[in-house]
Amino acid sequence: MWKFGSRTHFVKELWSLDEGEEVSLQGWVYRRSELGGLLFLRLRDSTGAVQVVFKEGNLPKERVDEARKAGIESSIWVKGVVRRDPRAPGGVEVVARDFRLIGPSENYPIRPGAGEEFLLDNRHLHIRSTYMRNVLKVREVVISAVDRWFRENGFVRVEAPTFVGAAVEGGATLFEVPYFGRKAYLTQSSQFYLEALIFAFENVYTIQPSFRAEKSRTRRHLTEFWHAEAEMAWADLDGMMDVVESLITYVTHEVVDKASENLKALNRKFNPVEERFPRISYDEAVDIAQSKGVDISWGDDLGTEAERTISLEFDVPVFVHRYPKEAKAFYHKPDPNRGEVVLCADLLAPEGIGEIVGGGQRIEDLDELLGRIREEGLNPDDYQWYLDLRRYGSVPHSGFGLGVERLVRWITGIGHVRDAIAFPRTPTRLYP
Ligand code: 4AD
Ligand code: MG
Repeated sequence: MWKFGSRTHFVKELWSLDEGEEVSLQGWVYRRSELGGLLFLRLRDSTGAVQVVFKEGNLPKERVDEARKAGIESSIWVKGVVRRDPRAPGGVEVVARDFRLIGPSENYPIRPGAGEEFLLDNRHLHIRSTYMRNVLKVREVVISAVDRWFRENGFVRVEAPTFVGAAVEGGATLFEVPYFGRKAYLTQSSQFYLEALIFAFENVYTIQPSFRAEKSRTRRHLTEFWHAEAEMAWADLDGMMDVVESLITYVTHEVVDKASENLKALNRKFNPVEERFPRISYDEAVDIAQSKGVDISWGDDLGTEAERTISLEFDVPVFVHRYPKEAKAFYHKPDPNRGEVVLCADLLAPEGIGEIVGGGQRIEDLDELLGRIREEGLNPDDYQWYLDLRRYGSVPHSGFGLGVERLVRWITGIGHVRDAIAFPRTPTRLYP
């Protein structure tokens, strides 16, 4: 790790040092207490926290006075010697020999017992908390693992625009933005651009934000979320499910390997999943939901309640495939053996989490796609470039989108997707 400023060590490096070794640390005051004339500051840096003990006689009195003024979340520099003490948290403490208050912090607004809305209003500060740091660290491991899996499995990383001219996932959730006298929208999904890019690279993926004007205030909806999407030329529905299965399996193993401390700190017992997720049809899923008393009939999309109920029946992620045509977007390929359903699949995470991945096989035939666009009351003029992909060397192809925050929510066991991202965007939240 780069060491900037006048630091010799990061906190995590202290545990292996010998008693008496001199160190300089930089960080923030995480906790403070005074006991029997001794001042204890718990210093936190990006790697951990350690207790620093200040005793007059060990350093000039004015330095101890300066340390006494260091409120919660002040930034500080400390020079001291390592002391092994079984009473100190972690068995190691630092005995201060010198001190500087770098950035004072008085009356830090976040106190124990602060309410949810208050913490969200102060998210720019709350991200320093143990809870948020652990969740965000798992998120970082998840995103890196997704990226690595794709790269190591022959996918090319690509990027798609954020301003777009037409809907992918239906007009109801489009954010409209003024665009030099015209209307533009924020992208709901990079799928169509990935579909174009498979003709260059065959297997492609992207990790970037998608936007949904969803007014639903649930624990799984954001208006801006991070979307890992992939598209594969020549792949059918089963091929797509195989890719998702392998990707999710890998990510869960990576998190358990690289972020087990963070999961532990979150009191989360999480076991990596093994490949071969059950694959049930939409028809079977509806039967399960109905048998558990959910009010749903064949033809309805699976709502939050149905997905929750179905996912509680499995202790591993489960694919639900072949939804009714009318419950899904126009681009899904109808099953040639059964025209009323489409070759799509959602992956439902266990523990009631529900959908974390949605995808399927796309219509590759020009006339069929035009027919579906018209059937849905959409304007083919808006989709000319997308239709071109069926005019010039069309191929069977499939793809999917994975909601990063939903995956992180499942892995960490947190109650709401908004905590799976540093600065969440919901219908009521644009600040901070
Ligand atoms: O199921 P969705 O809407 O599918 C698509 O957008 C496809 N075009 C993706 C593709 O095939 N390339 O969204 C995919 C995933 C969902 O399964 C969910 O995990 C996540 O994106 N997602 C959301 N996450 C948080 N907040 C929202 N409002 C979300 N909407 C979708
Ligand atoms: Mg979906």
